[in-house]
Amino acid sequence: MPHPTDTYVAAIDQGTTSSRCIIFDRNGAIVAVDQREHRQIFPKPGWVEHDATEIWSKVQAVVAGALAKAGLRADQLTALGITNQRETTVLWDRRTGKPVHNAIVWQDTRTSGLCEELGGEVGQDRFRDTTGLPLASYFSGPKAAWLLDHVPGLRRRAEMGEIAFGTIDSWLIWNLTGGTDGGVHVTDVTNAGRTLLMDLRTLQWDTSILSAMGLPEAMLPEIRSSAEVYGTAVGQLAGVPVASALGDQQAAVFGQTCYGVGEAKNTYGTGSFLLLNTGDRPVPSKSGLLTTMGYRLGGERPVYCLEGSIAITGALVQWFRDQLGIIRSADEIEPLAASVDDNGGAYIVPAFSGLFAPYWRSDARGVITGLTRYVTKAHLARAVLEATSWQTREVVDAMYQDSGVRISTLKVDGGMTANGLLMQHQADVLGVPVIRPVVAETTCLGAAYAAGLATGAWQDLDELRAHWKRDAEWTPRMSEEERTREYGNWRMAVERSFGWHR
Ligand code: G3P
Repeated sequence: MPHPTDTYVAAIDQGTTSSRCIIFDRNGAIVAVDQREHRQIFPKPGWVEHDATEIWSKVQAVVAGALAKAGLRADQLTALGITNQRETTVLWDRRTGKPVHNAIVWQDTRTSGLCEELGGEVGQDRFRDTTGLPLASYFSGPKAAWLLDHVPGLRRRAEMGEIAFGTIDSWLIWNLTGGTDGGVHVTDVTNAGRTLLMDLRTLQWDTSILSAMGLPEAMLPEIRSSAEVYGTAVGQLAGVPVASALGDQQAAVFGQTCYGVGEAKNTYGTGSFLLLNTGDRPVPSKSGLLTTMGYRLGGERPVYCLEGSIAITGALVQWFRDQLGIIRSADEIEPLAASVDDNGGAYIVPAFSGLFAPYWRSDARGVITGLTRYVTKAHLARAVLEATSWQTREVVDAMYQDSGVRISTLKVDGGMTANGLLMQHQADVLGVPVIRPVVAETTCLGAAYAAGLATGAWQDLDELRAHWKRDAEWTPRMSEEERTREYGNWRMAVERSFGWHR
């Protein structure tokens, strides 16, 4: 039973497929978890939307669920932290509090043409110096511009200041702190840094990019640090300080306690995102990585990362389950894949949203290569899992090219790390040990840590570091010869995925 005077910090993780609330105790151990999925809306090939109103009600439900499971009241929470799927874009009416359209999800490719137009003669790198990002459909700014162009009358209303733009963190904080009745309209540097609109050095909106995209400044939230009290919650969490916001991948960096230069983590969710802490200066990438914010604690110097973003990893398992129906639940994939010794020559490149790092090819589409009559659904199950580890290998190679840092171990987290076969293959193809901490829910943990630091529940980073404990480790077993041969096959398959969509 929870102790009535102990310290509890709650975190909301609003992810691509589900929302989750976790309550942690003062040692960073999990007290209670509640989770609910929300609808994925696919209006056209390549388009992905969410209903932001549904997301808000699922978030309220998981908060209530976690409090009930923990046997705690809201007034026993020291702070609340927010972490979220990044880039997903919501525009809402400030007066009614209603979204003006479904949220456009980070995976949605509808703005590929707009990004090409914006790039003009310079191409993808037009805003890279300022924002650290290539012009790609992944990011929020062009999604907001698309909405202003396509929802009748919206541009005028946005210019009049009637419309608010936000990534999911902004949407949740605004609702948590009162919505139409005084909600605060803010975002943090890690989320703002994924819009293609923020200057990485000044940490402010860049007015020249705003005008290039035709976005009125009146719709934008204020950019704040990742750990400070933005406001006080009303409703079911009345009185609880809302004290952190971090994009989910940056929250995982924080939860994995990657606080030193050269420390890296990989989170396996819908996609996978490998981030390397590069310290207090942004490091430009020449190898297809993103230069992105790590976190900023109150008024301290910001911490930057290099990021390898992979759009589809866990989502490929979902596709294998839901669209192909080969398995009934995600955990059936491991025994099916383990029933054969190898992939039987098959490779699946899941370029469902084009390919992100290190290629940034919006013309790529998914391919399955190497099919013969020998290949069974078990081989395909293996190819599904291996697609995750090969994509990660490509990102690790790019990290080395950009930073000269060879990772000696990889800290991992997220749902897919429960899959031992995948983790072994990951260690095999990287040739380094892969390590999972006891609390693999590092995304929520990072948001809770940041909120707890902002409100005095924890004192400093050393205290948080002391919580990190190893749970499992996989060491490489594949021969160098096999690794090289298999990697060559994978790269050939990737080549085949290019040029399908123009
Ligand atoms: O950039 C997209 C990423 O933040 C989504 O993460 O784990 O919700 O799929 P996830």
